[in-house]
Formats: sequence, C-alpha cells, structure tokens
Amino acid sequence: MKRERINAPKGVSEYVPPRSASFEWVRDHLISPAKAAGYQLMELPAFEDRGGRSITLRPEGTAGVMRAVIEHSLDRGQLPVKVFYSGAFFRAERPQAGRYRQFYQVGVESIGLDDPAIDAEVIALADTAFKNIGLKKYRLEITSLGDAQSRAAHRVDLVAFLKTLDLDEATIARAEINPLRLFDDKRDEVKAKMAGAPLLMDYLSDVSRENFARVRAYLDALGIAYIVNPRMVRGLDYYTGTTFEFIHEDLGAQSGIGGGGRYDGLMETLGGASLSGIGFGLGVDRVLLAAEAEGLLIENQFASDLFIIPLGDLAKEKSLSIAHSLRQAGYRVEIAFGDRALKGAMKAADKSGSEFAVVIGESELNSGVVELKRMKDGELSSVKIEQLDKALHA
Ligand code: HAM
Repeated sequence: MKRERINAPKGVSEYVPPRSASFEWVRDHLISPAKAAGYQLMELPAFEDRGGRSITLRPEGTAGVMRAVIEHSLDRGQLPVKVFYSGAFFRAERPQAGRYRQFYQVGVESIGLDDPAIDAEVIALADTAFKNIGLKKYRLEITSLGDAQSRAAHRVDLVAFLKTLDLDEATIARAEINPLRLFDDKRDEVKAKMAGAPLLMDYLSDVSRENFARVRAYLDALGIAYIVNPRMVRGLDYYTGTTFEFIHEDLGAQSGIGGGGRYDGLMETLGGASLSGIGFGLGVDRVLLAAEAEGLLIENQFASDLFIIPLGDLAKEKSLSIAHSLRQAGYRVEIAFGDRALKGAMKAADKSGSEFAVVIGESELNSGVVELKRMKDGELSSVKIEQLDKALHA
C-alpha cells in the first residue's frame, strides 16, 4: 500500500541539521547584546485569547509583551521594564523567498521611559548584533513620526494632498485607514503621485524635532551610520516618534532584517498605564539568509572537537567515560556507535567535520595511549588518554 507523504504546511520556515546550527548561531548572536545590556527574557504564549471562541496566533511580539507587563504589574515596578523575547510568529501572508507564514523573531522592548538615549541604545543593540554576526551589506534607516500634535498637523495636509490625486478606490480605502501607508505603495504611478506629498518630518513639533536630533547625535557618538528616510512606513500602526528599519542589500524584495520604534499610547490602548516604550523585532530567518549571502557561515563551524571510534565493548565503555569528562571540560565530543568496521567509522568521523578523531581498541586500552588524528591533514600524535584535553586545546 502506498502511503501519502506528509509535508510541512506551505510557507513555513523550518530548520534541520546541518543548517539548524547556523540558525541557532544567528539567533544567539541577535539575543546576546540585549542580555549584555540587562534585558531579561519574556516567554509568552504563541496565541492570545480574547475570551471568545477564536484565538489568534501572534503576528508580532510587542502587543503580547504589553499585555503581560500589565497583567503582571511590571509597569508598577522599576522602570524601564527591559525585556527580550525569541520565538515563532505567524502572519497570513503570501509566501515567497524570505517571507513566511511562520517565522522567527528576536525582539526587545524597553517600557516606561521616554528618553532619546534609550532609542539610541535600542538601535545600537540591533546594530551590534548584526556587526557581531559579521554583516556588512546592510543599512539603517531612521525617521521620526513625531508626537500626536505633529502627526495631527501633518495628517490634515496629507489628506488634503491625497484628495488632489486621482486614485483608485482600493487605494483611497487604504489611505482612509492610515494615509501614511501610501508612502509605501510599490506601484510606480502611485510613487510618482506621492513624490510631492507633504512629509511628516517637516511637521515635527519642537519637542519631537529636538528628541530626534538627540537620537541622531547619540548614534553619531556611537559611530552608527544611518540614513534619515522621511518616507519610511512601518507595517504596524502603533508607532510614534523614532522609528527605524535595517535593510540588507542581498535579500531582494524581502530586505527588512529588522525594525522597530517608539510606541506612545500602545500600553494605554491595551488597558495599562500611560507609558511610552520602544523596541525592535529582528527577523532571524532573514538574518540567516543575509549571513549566508555574505558567506559568513564557515563550513563545520559547529562541528565536534573530537570523534571517538571504539573497537569492542570494553572500548565503548571507556569511550563513554572519556567523552563524558571531555564534555564536562567544555569540548564537543562524539562517539561512533553502531559497531561499524573501522573504515566506515573513519568515514563517519570525516563526514562529521570533527577536528580530531581517535580510535580506541584493545591495545590503546592496555597502553593508555592513543593516536590522535588531525582530520584536515591526517597528522598523528601519540597522546595519553588522561591528557587528551590538553592535546585538543593545542
Ligand atoms: P516588523 O517590522 O513587522 O516589526 O517585523 C520585524 C522583522 O521580522 C522584520 O524586519 C522581518 O525581518 C521579520 N519578518 C516580519 N514578517 C516576516 C515574515 N512574514 N517572514 C519572515 N520574516 C518576517 C514587528 O514585528 C514589531 N513588533 C517590532 C517592534 C518591537 N516594534 C517595537 N517593538
């Protein structure tokens, strides 16, 4: 009987060995600058339940973090609340290269203080992560969406301007939800029409303008390069003040490797205190694609230090304890199980990418000395079993 093959759902990203090691490496590098700055883990459910029968898979992390901060009264403790998160997010999008229905983000949120220095710190955490990964071909774009007063003044002029344009109904409907969205229209004819549109940047209140100038000054002081893009439109509507996006050159249409911004009022909308916050989400899948495109993932980067090939039962027992103590000392050690012939086991050692291999048979057990083989050139050296850790270190 022929069984039907079961496949993963369409448009999801999944990672299996060996590429999963690269994914994990990228994700860890995206998290570590946040940890180094005192951000603490928040682990939240992948779905939110509004009390009805339908539940929603989380499309992003910020709203859930706000909900949890309010629910656990963190907003009434030490401010700012500084958290990071990492996990799967879900969007009902048309799948394409770099755009999935289930994807992975690492994010941070700093909630409770409205200080341009925090904006700069948050942007720097993302930039440091990308630099630590080794990425070079990316740029940072920043803008300010100003405060409520700035946006209200701009909206009046923008809506009046849009009325002068000859737009189709669907586009007019989009503009009614958020007129800023038209800056993001990919069609050339709309782009041309929007060329003369009033820019929010020119409507910033004195406070907003001053805040944005300070964010830029801090970034300059940190040596972080950026481009001010007054036409930037973020995909989410809760942003205010500083907003930013990191764009990678090698990723085609889905080039955003991370983005974020400040969100005054979001917390209040969700029933919490009137606190400002700022954060980002970095796309782990896309950063991995970018790192691969830039050739930053070295083959066997994650392979073992030592591959032990035991010959016989006694050797297997001894190998388990050798491997155990070397692992305790921080080495990555694999054992060839399965009682394969020496030739087959050596092939497995070679394939594993391990730096060294060692065969342990009866004579090695008797003498307590093994021949340590360096896999890249086959060089052999005699090493006492107790001194394997030093030999691996060399
Ligand atoms: P976002 O710009 O919607 O922001 O997503 C952040 C990043 O997630 C994007 O730059 C992209 O790298 C990745 N991403 C988004 N959608 C997909 C997808 N369908 N497939 C693959 N990768 C994707 C947010 O989610 C905000 N919550 C960020 C934030 C935090 N703002 C303030 N705090």
